[in-house]
Amino acid sequence: MWQWLCSIAAEVVAGSAAWLGKGLSCVCVQSREGDARPSFDLTPVQEALRALWDAAFPREELCGLVSEQWKAMGWQGKDPSTDFRGGGFISLENLLYFGRNFPRSFQDLLLKQDGDRAMWEYPFAVAGVNITFMLIQMLDLEAVKPQTMLGATFLKFLAENESAFDLLYCITFKLMDHQWLTMRASYMDFNAVMKATRRQLETELLQEGIKRLEDLPSYNLLKRY
Ligand SMILES: *[C@@H]1O[C@H](CO)[C@@H](O)[C@H](O)[C@H]1NC(C)=O
Ligand SMILES: *[C@@H]1O[C@H](CO)[C@@H](O)[C@H](O)[C@H]1NC(C)=O
Repeated sequence: MWQWLCSIAAEVVAGSAAWLGKGLSCVCVQSREGDARPSFDLTPVQEALRALWDAAFPREELCGLVSEQWKAMGWQGKDPSTDFRGGGFISLENLLYFGRNFPRSFQDLLLKQDGDRAMWEYPFAVAGVNITFMLIQMLDLEAVKPQTMLGATFLKFLAENESAFDLLYCITFKLMDHQWLTMRASYMDFNAVMKATRRQLETELLQEGIKRLEDLPSYNLLKRY
């Protein structure tokens, strides 16, 4: 298994969020325990893609890193890297964290299991990349130092827990789906749903008494198992 070690914590300590501007440079450390598959021939991104596939469809073999099968996950084509290129690999890392840490919610969203769904649903993976982008913008993480109250608030969470961005991503994805259902939306309404999601998150993050991301009301929408 590859473990992604991103230079987040160090940068936060240094009082800077420049890590995102740099395209989030991650170094990868490989630990071989429990992973019999030889993986020396895969790049970190390929390894992460494999892991994402296993999290999404554990009972289905992936036939190749470029494969029509990816479309079942809501990627636009058979090569997911063309979809997440813009978001950097952070969007891939976010999805993988979601799949591993909240498998129940991840599966519900991936397979569209909740509620009365639209005829024209949003594609899961593409929406995920969109959420990564929205969060980076909302939290002002491309700035060397966040210029907004929201950005500063978030950096405090990140300093306490290096998984804060991943966790906020999971909360946001689930909240977005919740808004989607509440608004009885169809793909044409995707941007409106994203805006509503962002407003709700901003309100929750700035509420008094939020000491950890787990205190956000929307955190309760997430299910691990
Ligand atoms: C999200 O997707 C919509 C529709 O495809 C697009 O118009 C918008 O620019 C995307 N937003 C971000 C932040 O990537
Ligand atoms: C960071 O947050 C995650 C997600 O809630 C949690 O599982 C993990 O235990 C936390 N880590 C620390 C060091 O508090």
